[in-house]
Amino acid sequence: MAELQKDPMTRGDFLGFGILGTIVGAILTIPPAAFVLGPLIDSDIRGQSDIPSGPDDWFEVASISEVSESEPKVFTVDFPVEQVYGKPEIQEESKTSSEEFVVPSAIWLSWEHEINADGTYGQSLRPSFLDEKSDGFSESEIEEIQNGLNVLSSSCAHLGCPVRWLVREGEGEFLCPCHGGIYNINGEYVAGPPPRDMYSYDFEVREDGSVYVRHEFDTGGPNGPQEPYVI
Ligand code: FES
Repeated sequence: MAELQKDPMTRGDFLGFGILGTIVGAILTIPPAAFVLGPLIDSDIRGQSDIPSGPDDWFEVASISEVSESEPKVFTVDFPVEQVYGKPEIQEESKTSSEEFVVPSAIWLSWEHEINADGTYGQSLRPSFLDEKSDGFSESEIEEIQNGLNVLSSSCAHLGCPVRWLVREGEGEFLCPCHGGIYNINGEYVAGPPPRDMYSYDFEVREDGSVYVRHEFDTGGPNGPQEPYVI
């Protein structure tokens, strides 16, 4: 008489697979759960950080006379950040605290250039009166300067790595070292993974030739509004 075939899986094996499955399931659930709960974690546990961007929160970047005619130049602005720890609505006053610190932000200034059909750069929009004067500008002169100036965030529009200005053969371009995103001198998208042009700061030029920025950006683009990842 044939011997009864034995079940290859014991009760112990079955329980072991169950526990293993639970652990793997839990690990796979953590990233999406963290993504969904991220804003809640930010405000409830780590607190909230806020860079002032009201109508009076202008910060000086440079003088217009420091902007080179032919290539972008990088400057740094220290934006103050107010960090609040804890959530004031659910905690006693004694358990919340706030601190102020600065976040240095790299900002590229350049003169807008005409872009030829082959991608090379044509004339710059730098007003010629800047050869004669560096301050005491009239309203119409300020408007002309503002129309010709690029004020760009250094944070790549893909995932926020800081871009560099690189001159290889021929024209220079902004290159992102992380995934190879490329932009032209006006910050316009040329190649690589970024979904849009570089972010432009809200800026103004004053009568004495100083350039001021606010911590606000154009958030439009070919794929619709999108917030910068890292600023
Ligand atoms: S972060 Fe710049 S290309 Fe990805």
